[in-house]
Amino acid sequence: MPLTRILVADDEESMRWVLSKALKRKGFSVDLASDGRQALSMIQDGSYDLAILDIKMPGITGLDLLDKIREQKKDLLVVIMTAEASMKNAVEAMKRGAYDYITKPFDLDVIDAIIEKVGRAREVAGQVSMLKQELKERYQVEKNIIGNSPVMREVYKTIGKVAGSDVTVLVQGESGTGKELVARAVHFNSGRLGKPFVAINCAAIPKELLESELFGSEKGAFTGSVERKLGKFEQANLGTLFLDEIGDMPLDLQAKILRVLQEREVTRTGGNQSIPVDVRIVAATNQALAEKVRLKEFREDLFYRLNVVPINLVPLRERREDIPLLVQYFLNRVCAEMDIPLKQCTDETIALLTGYPWPGNVRELENAIKRAVILSNDLLLTPADFHGLESAPGMELTVSQEASLEALVDSKLRSCLQGIEHLENGEIHSIVLQQVERPLIRIILEKTRWNQVKAADILGINRNTLRKKISELGIELKRD
Ligand SMILES: Nc1ncnc2c1ncn2[C@@H]1O[C@H](COP(=O)(O)OP(=O)(O)OP(=O)(O)O)[C@@H](O)[C@H]1O
Ligand SMILES: [Mg+2]
Repeated sequence: MPLTRILVADDEESMRWVLSKALKRKGFSVDLASDGRQALSMIQDGSYDLAILDIKMPGITGLDLLDKIREQKKDLLVVIMTAEASMKNAVEAMKRGAYDYITKPFDLDVIDAIIEKVGRAREVAGQVSMLKQELKERYQVEKNIIGNSPVMREVYKTIGKVAGSDVTVLVQGESGTGKELVARAVHFNSGRLGKPFVAINCAAIPKELLESELFGSEKGAFTGSVERKLGKFEQANLGTLFLDEIGDMPLDLQAKILRVLQEREVTRTGGNQSIPVDVRIVAATNQALAEKVRLKEFREDLFYRLNVVPINLVPLRERREDIPLLVQYFLNRVCAEMDIPLKQCTDETIALLTGYPWPGNVRELENAIKRAVILSNDLLLTPADFHGLESAPGMELTVSQEASLEALVDSKLRSCLQGIEHLENGEIHSIVLQQVERPLIRIILEKTRWNQVKAADILGINRNTLRKKISELGIELKRD
């Protein structure tokens, strides 16, 4: 917040002239008022950083003006000019909240010194207000991450543990599980609070632009680059760089990122100078990075560099106890934002929301609540306000569930098969299928309370086939 606009108010023309000349020469923009009333209206309309007021002016005196400024423009700094005879007034001025006073006649050096002091004060004030803002955000981040499940409590602990250091954090989780929220929490709870948090979504930026977005570019580096551009690494200097959707980073850029992390310097596109950068990296992905490493789609060395501290966000359907808390939190937030009376969910609605699998996780839940709050005319939200959810067949697998199931089975099978020394020809297929089929049928039977008709429907197989499988697989039938 540099000092730029100054108002000088004095009924003596020569004084206005001298001050205006001296201040303008220093590059400030200066406005002049010849009495208190004029000064007041200029202050009310304009945005000054500093007002230099004569204490004795016709209309409103400098002191009365000072009172009005303290009421109406709390941030405006005021310097009062007094004649030697009125030192008493100078004390009075300070009491009423003037920043400083000058006794007339004065040397221009005095003005210089005051201006410099004001500049420093504004800088500190700027830092303080920035810090206040950041602290507010830090507080909000803590309030913002909702969830009391054991897995979420582990997440909070990890955020706390990494707060004091610069270790790289890799946040993994399905879409909408709160990866960005966690990345921000890591930053705002760290020593880098007050420094920039810069996010870049590697999946959203075309490959050919990503490099210069990350590392910057020199003027003329390519057609159309008319100016030097700072990359995200430089923008995040001293702060945190959030590399979102890192799994989508092209391989050649992965190599460059790795180099930056190792050498802690960047070279802008089209440049040859190395610029030191000091950034803390938090990366996030909704893809199984370890699997991408295996498929050679993600560099192993970069993976290990990023994955120093992993934070895995569990899908919402696996921490259903957090759902009622989140529902309440979003109801409060949405209603407050819309400035309407608080709406609530009936118990039946909470049960519906808690049972739904939420493939889009917390984001989907948040949107569903927003939509229901906006569309319903009642203060009580019923299942009917959540269209689509009630008809969702509880046992159907979503695309993302299917994908994660396959990944899970894949990795389990791999490790099981590795341990087996030699396989008999023609056995493996039926052994593995039985091992998968048995728990599947058992789980569905449990869920349907051993109702074989329902279980067969959900499984999508004939009732006789189910009966045959139950006996072939040796599934023990229970009744609730
Ligand atoms: N635990 C939580 N408490 C409160 N709000 C949450 C929580 N988790 C996520 N949200 C909210 O859900 C939305 C999605 O979160 P966020 O953007 O952090 O998810 P993400 O994992 O980065 O998703 P994507 O992979 O789609 O980018 C945001 O509005 C966020 O505020
Ligand atoms: Mg995200």
